[in-house]
Amino acid sequence: MSLQRRTLIAGNWKMNGSLASNASLLENLLAAPEIAVSGSTCEVLVCVPAVYLPQCESLLKSSAIALGAQDISAHQSGAYTGEVASAMLADFSCQYVIVGHSERRAYHHESNELVAQKALQALRSSIFPIVCVGETLEQREAGRTNEVVVTQLRAVMDVLDDGALARIVVAYEPVWAIGTGKTATPEMAQEVHAVLRSVLAERSGFAANKVRILYGGSMKPDNAKELLAMPDIDGGLIGGASLKAADFLAIIGAV
Ligand code: PGA
Repeated sequence: MSLQRRTLIAGNWKMNGSLASNASLLENLLAAPEIAVSGSTCEVLVCVPAVYLPQCESLLKSSAIALGAQDISAHQSGAYTGEVASAMLADFSCQYVIVGHSERRAYHHESNELVAQKALQALRSSIFPIVCVGETLEQREAGRTNEVVVTQLRAVMDVLDDGALARIVVAYEPVWAIGTGKTATPEMAQEVHAVLRSVLAERSGFAANKVRILYGGSMKPDNAKELLAMPDIDGGLIGGASLKAADFLAIIGAV
Protein backbone atom coordinates (compact mmCIF):
# COMPACT_ATOMS: atom_id res chain seq x y z
CA MET A 1 0.00 0.00 0.00
CA SER A 2 1.37 3.39 -0.86
CA LEU A 3 0.57 6.82 0.48
CA GLN A 4 0.09 8.21 -3.00
CA ARG A 5 -2.47 5.59 -4.01
CA ARG A 6 -5.84 5.32 -2.32
CA THR A 7 -6.56 1.73 -1.31
CA LEU A 8 -9.51 0.24 -3.18
CA ILE A 9 -11.54 -2.57 -1.67
CA ALA A 10 -13.77 -3.90 -4.43
CA GLY A 11 -16.40 -6.60 -4.09
CA ASN A 12 -17.18 -8.76 -7.12
CA TRP A 13 -20.56 -10.31 -6.52
CA LYS A 14 -20.33 -12.40 -9.71
CA MET A 15 -23.66 -14.03 -10.66
CA ASN A 16 -25.08 -13.92 -7.16
CA GLY A 17 -27.84 -11.99 -5.48
CA SER A 18 -31.53 -11.17 -5.68
CA LEU A 19 -33.51 -8.01 -5.02
CA ALA A 20 -34.03 -9.14 -1.43
CA SER A 21 -30.50 -10.35 -0.67
CA ASN A 22 -28.86 -7.31 -2.32
CA ALA A 23 -30.96 -4.98 -0.20
CA SER A 24 -30.11 -6.83 2.96
CA LEU A 25 -26.37 -7.01 2.18
CA LEU A 26 -26.15 -3.32 1.30
CA GLU A 27 -28.23 -2.28 4.30
CA ASN A 28 -25.91 -4.23 6.58
CA LEU A 29 -22.84 -2.66 4.98
CA LEU A 30 -24.23 0.88 5.06
CA ALA A 31 -25.13 0.59 8.74
CA ALA A 32 -21.64 -0.55 9.72
CA PRO A 33 -19.12 1.70 11.48
CA GLU A 34 -16.36 0.37 9.17
CA ILE A 35 -18.13 1.99 6.22
CA ALA A 36 -18.82 5.21 8.10
CA VAL A 37 -15.10 5.70 8.72
CA SER A 38 -13.83 4.05 5.52
CA GLY A 39 -13.47 7.37 3.73
CA SER A 40 -10.34 8.17 5.70
CA THR A 41 -8.58 4.92 4.79
CA CYS A 42 -9.93 3.50 1.54
CA GLU A 43 -12.43 3.53 -1.25
CA VAL A 44 -15.11 0.81 -1.12
CA LEU A 45 -16.78 -0.53 -4.24
CA VAL A 46 -19.29 -3.24 -5.13
CA CYS A 47 -19.45 -4.66 -8.66
CA VAL A 48 -22.95 -6.02 -9.09
CA PRO A 49 -24.79 -7.93 -11.83
CA ALA A 50 -25.93 -5.47 -14.52
CA VAL A 51 -29.66 -6.00 -13.94
CA TYR A 52 -29.27 -4.86 -10.33
CA LEU A 53 -27.51 -1.58 -11.15
CA PRO A 54 -30.71 0.51 -10.82
CA GLN A 55 -31.53 -1.07 -7.46
CA CYS A 56 -28.01 -0.68 -6.12
CA GLU A 57 -27.66 2.83 -7.50
CA SER A 58 -30.67 3.90 -5.52
CA LEU A 59 -29.58 2.09 -2.32
CA LEU A 60 -26.04 3.50 -2.52
CA LYS A 61 -26.97 7.07 -3.45
CA SER A 62 -24.74 9.56 -1.55
CA SER A 63 -23.14 6.74 0.43
CA ALA A 64 -19.49 5.84 0.97
CA ILE A 65 -19.81 2.80 -1.31
CA ALA A 66 -19.21 3.20 -5.02
CA LEU A 67 -21.01 1.21 -7.68
CA GLY A 68 -19.43 -0.88 -10.42
CA ALA A 69 -20.28 -3.47 -13.06
CA GLN A 70 -18.67 -6.80 -13.91
CA ASP A 71 -18.36 -6.56 -17.67
CA ILE A 72 -19.00 -4.25 -20.58
CA SER A 73 -19.38 -4.48 -24.34
CA ALA A 74 -16.37 -3.68 -26.49
CA HIS A 75 -18.75 -1.80 -28.79
CA GLN A 76 -20.34 1.59 -28.39
CA SER A 77 -23.93 0.69 -29.41
CA GLY A 78 -25.88 -1.20 -32.00
CA ALA A 79 -26.72 -4.75 -33.01
CA TYR A 80 -25.01 -6.65 -30.18
CA THR A 81 -27.82 -8.66 -28.61
CA GLY A 82 -27.40 -9.20 -24.90
CA GLU A 83 -24.51 -6.76 -24.48
CA VAL A 84 -24.37 -3.74 -22.18
CA ALA A 85 -22.70 -0.55 -23.41
CA SER A 86 -20.44 1.69 -21.37
CA ALA A 87 -22.85 4.61 -21.74
CA MET A 88 -25.62 2.46 -20.23
CA LEU A 89 -23.43 1.73 -17.21
CA ALA A 90 -22.70 5.44 -16.90
CA ASP A 91 -26.46 6.12 -16.84
CA PHE A 92 -26.57 4.23 -13.53
CA SER A 93 -23.61 6.05 -11.92
CA CYS A 94 -21.22 3.18 -12.45
CA GLN A 95 -17.75 4.39 -11.61
CA TYR A 96 -15.86 1.18 -12.30
CA VAL A 97 -16.20 -1.91 -14.44
CA ILE A 98 -14.29 -5.18 -14.27
CA VAL A 99 -12.84 -6.24 -17.63
CA GLY A 100 -11.05 -9.45 -18.51
CA HIS A 101 -11.95 -11.40 -15.39
CA SER A 102 -10.48 -14.89 -15.74
CA GLU A 103 -13.98 -16.38 -15.71
CA ARG A 104 -14.80 -14.33 -18.82
CA ARG A 105 -11.47 -15.13 -20.42
CA ALA A 106 -11.97 -18.86 -19.78
CA TYR A 107 -15.70 -19.42 -20.25
CA HIS A 108 -16.43 -16.72 -22.82
CA HIS A 109 -13.14 -16.97 -24.70
CA GLU A 110 -12.26 -13.32 -24.28
CA SER A 111 -8.93 -12.48 -25.88
CA ASN A 112 -6.39 -9.94 -24.66
CA GLU A 113 -7.38 -7.71 -27.60
CA LEU A 114 -11.08 -7.84 -26.73
CA VAL A 115 -10.31 -7.02 -23.10
CA ALA A 116 -8.27 -4.05 -24.30
CA GLN A 117 -11.21 -2.77 -26.38
CA LYS A 118 -13.49 -3.11 -23.36
CA ALA A 119 -11.08 -1.07 -21.23
CA LEU A 120 -11.03 1.60 -23.93
CA GLN A 121 -14.83 1.72 -24.12
CA ALA A 122 -15.10 2.10 -20.35
CA LEU A 123 -12.69 5.04 -20.34
CA ARG A 124 -14.66 6.69 -23.17
CA SER A 125 -17.62 6.84 -20.77
CA SER A 126 -15.39 8.01 -17.90
CA ILE A 127 -15.68 4.65 -16.15
CA PHE A 128 -12.50 3.24 -14.64
CA PRO A 129 -11.75 -0.25 -15.97
CA ILE A 130 -10.45 -2.82 -13.50
CA VAL A 131 -8.27 -4.90 -15.80
CA CYS A 132 -7.82 -8.45 -14.48
CA VAL A 133 -4.71 -10.44 -15.25
CA GLY A 134 -3.56 -13.76 -13.87
CA GLU A 135 -1.97 -17.09 -14.64
CA THR A 136 -3.38 -20.62 -14.40
CA LEU A 137 -1.76 -23.21 -12.17
CA GLU A 138 -0.26 -24.89 -15.21
CA GLN A 139 1.29 -21.61 -16.36
CA ARG A 140 2.69 -20.92 -12.88
CA GLU A 141 4.18 -24.37 -12.63
CA ALA A 142 5.78 -23.89 -16.03
CA GLY A 143 7.43 -20.69 -14.76
CA ARG A 144 5.34 -18.55 -17.13
CA THR A 145 3.55 -16.30 -14.59
CA ASN A 146 5.31 -13.06 -15.47
CA GLU A 147 5.14 -13.64 -19.20
CA VAL A 148 1.37 -14.32 -19.02
CA VAL A 149 0.40 -11.35 -16.87
CA VAL A 150 2.70 -8.95 -18.70
CA THR A 151 1.24 -9.99 -22.09
CA GLN A 152 -2.27 -9.46 -20.70
CA LEU A 153 -1.38 -6.01 -19.36
CA ARG A 154 0.55 -4.91 -22.45
CA ALA A 155 -2.45 -5.65 -24.70
CA VAL A 156 -4.40 -3.02 -22.75
CA MET A 157 -1.48 -0.59 -22.59
CA ASP A 158 -1.15 -0.79 -26.38
CA VAL A 159 -4.55 0.82 -26.96
CA LEU A 160 -4.27 3.56 -24.32
CA ASP A 161 -2.34 6.82 -24.33
CA ASP A 162 -0.40 7.78 -21.20
CA GLY A 163 -3.26 9.85 -19.79
CA ALA A 164 -5.75 7.01 -20.16
CA LEU A 165 -3.26 4.49 -18.80
CA ALA A 166 -3.03 6.40 -15.53
CA ARG A 167 -6.79 5.95 -15.08
CA ILE A 168 -6.99 2.18 -15.13
CA VAL A 169 -6.94 -0.16 -12.17
CA VAL A 170 -5.17 -3.52 -12.51
CA ALA A 171 -6.18 -6.64 -10.57
CA TYR A 172 -3.74 -9.49 -10.27
CA GLU A 173 -5.84 -12.60 -9.78
CA PRO A 174 -3.98 -15.90 -9.98
CA VAL A 175 -6.58 -18.19 -11.54
CA TRP A 176 -5.66 -21.04 -9.20
CA ALA A 177 -6.50 -18.86 -6.18
CA ILE A 178 -9.93 -17.68 -7.29
CA GLY A 179 -12.75 -19.23 -5.29
CA THR A 180 -10.48 -22.06 -4.17
CA GLY A 181 -9.48 -20.88 -0.72
CA LYS A 182 -5.85 -21.06 -1.88
CA THR A 183 -4.16 -17.72 -1.89
CA ALA A 184 -0.86 -16.42 -3.13
CA THR A 185 1.45 -15.64 -0.22
CA PRO A 186 1.95 -11.91 0.26
CA GLU A 187 5.50 -12.31 -1.10
CA MET A 188 4.34 -14.19 -4.20
CA ALA A 189 1.70 -11.57 -4.89
CA GLN A 190 4.09 -8.67 -4.23
CA GLU A 191 6.57 -10.11 -6.71
CA VAL A 192 4.00 -10.14 -9.52
CA HIS A 193 2.60 -6.72 -8.55
CA ALA A 194 6.12 -5.27 -8.72
CA VAL A 195 6.62 -6.76 -12.20
CA LEU A 196 3.31 -5.26 -13.36
CA ARG A 197 4.26 -1.86 -11.96
CA SER A 198 7.65 -1.98 -13.67
CA VAL A 199 5.92 -2.65 -16.99
CA LEU A 200 3.71 0.41 -16.43
CA ALA A 201 6.83 2.40 -15.53
CA GLU A 202 8.49 1.55 -18.85
CA ARG A 203 5.71 3.56 -20.47
CA SER A 204 4.98 6.25 -17.90
CA GLY A 205 6.40 6.92 -14.46
CA PHE A 206 3.28 8.91 -13.66
CA ALA A 207 0.97 6.01 -14.52
CA ALA A 208 3.14 3.55 -12.60
CA ASN A 209 2.81 5.68 -9.46
CA LYS A 210 -0.86 6.31 -9.94
CA VAL A 211 -2.32 2.98 -11.06
CA ARG A 212 -3.67 0.82 -8.25
CA ILE A 213 -2.86 -2.86 -8.49
CA LEU A 214 -5.37 -4.93 -6.54
CA TYR A 215 -4.87 -8.51 -5.42
CA GLY A 216 -7.71 -10.96 -6.00
CA GLY A 217 -8.03 -14.66 -5.30
CA SER A 218 -9.43 -15.80 -1.98
CA MET A 219 -8.70 -12.56 -0.13
CA LYS A 220 -10.37 -13.08 3.26
CA PRO A 221 -10.48 -11.40 6.66
CA ASP A 222 -7.63 -13.60 7.89
CA ASN A 223 -5.16 -12.86 5.07
CA ALA A 224 -6.17 -9.34 4.00
CA LYS A 225 -3.95 -7.49 6.43
CA GLU A 226 -0.68 -9.14 5.38
CA LEU A 227 -1.51 -8.90 1.68
CA LEU A 228 -2.45 -5.22 1.98
CA ALA A 229 0.77 -4.51 3.87
CA MET A 230 2.82 -5.18 0.73
CA PRO A 231 4.15 -2.04 -0.95
CA ASP A 232 2.64 -2.76 -4.38
CA ILE A 233 -0.70 -4.20 -3.26
CA ASP A 234 -3.14 -1.30 -3.36
CA GLY A 235 -6.34 -3.10 -2.48
CA GLY A 236 -8.36 -6.20 -3.18
CA LEU A 237 -10.86 -7.58 -5.65
CA ILE A 238 -12.96 -9.84 -3.50
CA GLY A 239 -15.41 -12.48 -4.68
CA GLY A 240 -16.77 -14.91 -2.11
CA ALA A 241 -16.01 -12.79 0.95
CA SER A 242 -17.81 -9.77 -0.53
CA LEU A 243 -21.14 -11.60 -0.30
CA LYS A 244 -21.01 -11.76 3.48
CA ALA A 245 -21.28 -8.38 5.16
CA ALA A 246 -19.18 -9.45 8.15
CA ASP A 247 -16.31 -10.72 5.99
CA PHE A 248 -16.30 -7.76 3.62
CA LEU A 249 -16.38 -5.36 6.58
CA ALA A 250 -13.52 -7.21 8.27
CA ILE A 251 -11.40 -6.79 5.12
CA ILE A 252 -12.25 -3.08 5.03
CA GLY A 253 -11.31 -2.95 8.70
CA ALA A 254 -7.95 -4.54 7.87
CA VAL A 255 -6.99 -1.51 5.75
P1 PGA B 1 -12.63 -14.97 -4.67
O1 PGA B 1 -12.87 -14.28 -6.11
O2 PGA B 1 -12.35 -13.86 -3.71
O3 PGA B 1 -13.91 -15.70 -4.39
O4 PGA B 1 -11.46 -15.87 -4.83
C1 PGA B 1 -12.09 -13.22 -6.55
C2 PGA B 1 -12.49 -12.81 -7.94
O5 PGA B 1 -12.74 -13.70 -8.78
O6 PGA B 1 -12.59 -11.60 -8.26
